[in-house]
This record gives sequence, C-alpha cells and structure tokens, in this order.
Amino acid sequence: MKLFDTHAHLLDEAFDLDREAVIASLPEKGITKVMEACCDEAGIDRVAALVERVPFFYGSAGVHPHSADEWTNETGDHIRRALRRERMLAVGEIGLDYHYDFSPRDVQKRVLDEQLSLAKELRLPVILHDREAHGDMIDLLRAHKDGLQGVMHCFSGSYELAKECLDLGLYVAFGGALTFQNAVRPIDVVKRLPLDRLLIETDCPYMTPVPYRGQRNDPSFVRITLDRMAEVRGEDVGLLADALYRNALRVYNIAEEADA
Ligand code: NI
Repeated sequence: MKLFDTHAHLLDEAFDLDREAVIASLPEKGITKVMEACCDEAGIDRVAALVERVPFFYGSAGVHPHSADEWTNETGDHIRRALRRERMLAVGEIGLDYHYDFSPRDVQKRVLDEQLSLAKELRLPVILHDREAHGDMIDLLRAHKDGLQGVMHCFSGSYELAKECLDLGLYVAFGGALTFQNAVRPIDVVKRLPLDRLLIETDCPYMTPVPYRGQRNDPSFVRITLDRMAEVRGEDVGLLADALYRNALRVYNIAEEADA
C-alpha cells in the first residue's frame, strides 16, 4: 500500500532534532510521497531546498494568511521563481484565517486574491486554508473560478460548504480531526462526498490523530486517518488507499509514470 501525505510541515521546528531520521523512516512505513506546504516567504527557499534533496517530496510556495502582512512587491516573483523548480507544484498554503487574525482581514484578502491570480497565471493548483472565514473565502474563490484547481486542506466545514468546494473544482482533504471523539460533522461530510475528490493529509506536526493526541504528528500517521475514513465510508482500506493516492497525483498534476 502506497500513501501520499498531501499536506505536511517537516520544516517546522518540531522536527529540528530528528528531521532526517523521520524523513528516512517514511518509505518503509508506506509513505511514498509527501507534499511539504510552505507557510511564509522565508519558507519558500527552504521548501525548495528540502524538495531538491528528498526525491519523494514535493513542495508548494506561498504565503499563509498568518503571514499575509509580510507580502511585498517582490513576493510574487519569489514564488514564481520557486515554482519553476522540479517537484515544486502548487501555490500554498494560502487563504484566510479569522480565528487568529494574525494579519488584518483586508490584507489577508488582498494577498489571497494576488496568489489566486498567480496560480491561474502559472496554471498550478492552490492549497487553501480557511478558518472561520467561509463566506469571504467562497466569494474570492468564485471570483477566480476560471481555471481554479487545488485542495481545501484540513476541511472542517459543513457538507454544503464541501459541495461549494466541489462545484469550484476543488478536492477536499481530511486529517487527524477525522479521528477525534467529536468529529460528527467531518464524518458526515466524508460519508457523503464522492470518492474521486477526497484526499488525506496530516498537517503535521499539528492535528495528531487519536490515539496519539498530545504527541507530535508525522506523515506516517496519515495511515490512521486512512483507516478511519475506510471505516466511516464502509470501504476496503486497500482500495480506498489506491483511490486517494491517484487523487493526490491528479490534484498536484504528477504524472503517473513518474511514480513507477
Ligand atoms: Ni498546513
């Protein structure tokens, strides 16, 4: 069984002491591909360097809403340059976060708008982060619907919101939250969505699944979310894993033959 963690942050300081060992341990645990999601401008070159060094890693470049107020006139070109490199495949993670509001909301919206335009120009998928900002997020995505491709990561919204994402051409990704005791709504959504638009991810080092909550998350725990998704949907784990893997290749435009 091959697993693709479609959203991870191995460059987080939580991995500073054992990053190489964690990465080296992944293939034997069935994790054959990882998308390293970039969070801020300083991360763009770090992600590109990690991806260059580790052949089964892929990367994104972009500015997270938390860091939106660090956007400058040069940031767009910095992202463009990084995304010309091999296995640098998406603009992300980008979005709106009205839970923390680390950047002013008007700045978050402007920076998201710029990066959605950039993704369209480059014909690349986006990795989207939406926390308590559903209305503004959907409005902006609708304005960029033409050519929009990508994933709504760490999905925690309603079925109606998930449907909106599907109608916009997006995939919907679930992580450790699917295993939480109070996961009533995500479970309902996972049951009802079409198999060909689902993804799994860890968002490590955050969002550690049950029963490891409180510990650091890492890409190998994507298996726990897979098992839970199979249970919830009443599907065979192996068949589900195959389908999710193919979805991940498709959303990030990775050629199947590159996977031989
Ligand atoms: Ni993330």
